[in-house]
Amino acid sequence: MKVFVGSDHAGFDLKEAIKNYLTEKKLEFIDLGTDSASKSVDYPDYALEVAKETVKDNNSIGILVCGTGIGMSIAANKVKGVRAALIYDEYTAEVAKKHNNANVITFGGRTMTPLEVDRYLTKFLNAEFEDGRHQNRIDKIHNIE
Ligand code: RB5
Repeated sequence: MKVFVGSDHAGFDLKEAIKNYLTEKKLEFIDLGTDSASKSVDYPDYALEVAKETVKDNNSIGILVCGTGIGMSIAANKVKGVRAALIYDEYTAEVAKKHNNANVITFGGRTMTPLEVDRYLTKFLNAEFEDGRHQNRIDKIHNIE
């Protein structure tokens, strides 16, 4: 599994915490920026880079962080093949995988703590897509593209 991570300035600190989590879990990742919390950047630029890389391989996931996770999810979902989900608790973490088969997950650097996000990541990474009727619904989403 390839993991691509990205953030804007508002998500930078949480992205660093997520990288620590991934390292602890021995999950390899590629950081596509940004590289500081102090320089203001535009979140769609990073959403696009992570989304483009993630859709190249079915086993890849993208993790995006902005201030709220909202802008990153809106932007990433513009890329064909992306199913980006804003995760904000353990339940949404689990069903983002089980029902939506999300290949990109987004978090809010200004709305969530690193400890909360560690728990959400654990839920997401341990969940399995349930297929069946959920795949039919995902097919309908991709037919919209
Ligand atoms: C940046 O100030 C902020 O607007 C951005 O990080 C994000 O929250 C947008 O959705």
